[in-house]
Amino acid sequence: MQKLKIAPSLLAADFGNLQRDVEMVNESEADWHHIDVMDGVFVPNISYGMPVVKAIAKHATKPLDVHLMIVDPDRYIKTFAELGANILSVHYEACTHLHRTLQAIKTEGMQAGVALNPHTSVQLLEDTIQDIDIVCMMSVNPGFGGQSFIENTYEKVRALKLLIERKGASTLIEIDGGVTSKNAKALSDAGADILVAGSFVFNSENPAQTISDLKTIAVS
Ligand code: DX5
Ligand code: ZN
Repeated sequence: MQKLKIAPSLLAADFGNLQRDVEMVNESEADWHHIDVMDGVFVPNISYGMPVVKAIAKHATKPLDVHLMIVDPDRYIKTFAELGANILSVHYEACTHLHRTLQAIKTEGMQAGVALNPHTSVQLLEDTIQDIDIVCMMSVNPGFGGQSFIENTYEKVRALKLLIERKGASTLIEIDGGVTSKNAKALSDAGADILVAGSFVFNSENPAQTISDLKTIAVS
């Protein structure tokens, strides 16, 4: 069984010590750097934009997993490719022509991700799943770190896993929001491949150890 991937969300990092926190992720057992970009329109919060992503990219040694919580993401696909994004996720709810957007992301040499809000059914991916590298399933309403995990997520993960298998796709399932040591194992058992964790990692005494623990819990 392949080891579960952990993607610490830098939204919960100390922005005054961003280089230090990025380097902590570099040196930890984490697999990706999760980078949350919010525009204050698609979600009721503004996080950070291109200059900060550029600063993260300068120090990061692991793949950059960029989660765009913005309207009309097509406008910035090229920009994020140039900034060094390896995985670019757009929201299903923000894309009128999702298939075209996925093609545009791949044309720029990135892996294409689709993020789903908690209310968005996985069945809506029936006709695009083979074109999606990663589904970023929101287990909180996007916009803020530190929210409580929505329990209905387990059922959605199982349904998505069935859809992926039925369609013979190789899509990975990423869970984003409220991930802790309490739900990591159940999420992994339900079919999750990647866990994003922000506050649980960065608010802990020893973030690198917490990353390592999450990885171990999920496969034990
Ligand atoms: C929420 C973001 C998440 C967030 C997760 O809108 O997409 O990536 O940083 O933070 P925690 O792990 O604190 O819920
Ligand atoms: Zn995210």
